[in-house]
Amino acid sequence: MMFVHTDTKSPTSPLRALSVLVFLLLLIHLCTGQSLIGSSQPIVATRGDDITLPCRLDPAEDVTDLTVEWTRPDLDPRFVHVRRSGQELVSKKHPWFSERTSLFINELKHGNISLKLSRVELSDQGTYTCFIPGKEKLSSVQLFVGKFIYNVYFTTSED
Ligand SMILES: *[C@@H]1O[C@H](CO)[C@@H](O)[C@H](O)[C@H]1NC(C)=O
Repeated sequence: MMFVHTDTKSPTSPLRALSVLVFLLLLIHLCTGQSLIGSSQPIVATRGDDITLPCRLDPAEDVTDLTVEWTRPDLDPRFVHVRRSGQELVSKKHPWFSERTSLFINELKHGNISLKLSRVELSDQGTYTCFIPGKEKLSSVQLFVGKFIYNVYFTTSED
């Protein structure tokens, strides 16, 4: 717990206390270190496409020997692709994704855990999350799947 000392005699003290607090929160935020970066823009695909769902650890680190999890939280089981001890753990994987997912093995040493999804189905539309246990943050990527080829216009908001 942290206590912010405020001078009760000064009329500006609540404001000063607030700015100290904001500064501390900013510092904590900057110090939390690595995070996973997915995509702020949705990935748009057509049925049958082979696509890549981007996700990388920043700052980069070799994650070849770490556990990597891709999930769809709305599904049961939620696992799309799990890599553990250097190989894919297929036992808990949702059957929809059987033999359709892979990681880019040579990219793992650069912290790139992007997922390749082959032969996209309409049911693949959804929100995917990438996660490395032990790393604080998880990230998500949205996938939209269209039946036909069409042009999609969307606005993005950078965060
Ligand atoms: C991650 O690897 C994929 C596949 O090689 C590549 O398309 C993508 O650009 C890489 N991402 C980064 C951030 O290097």
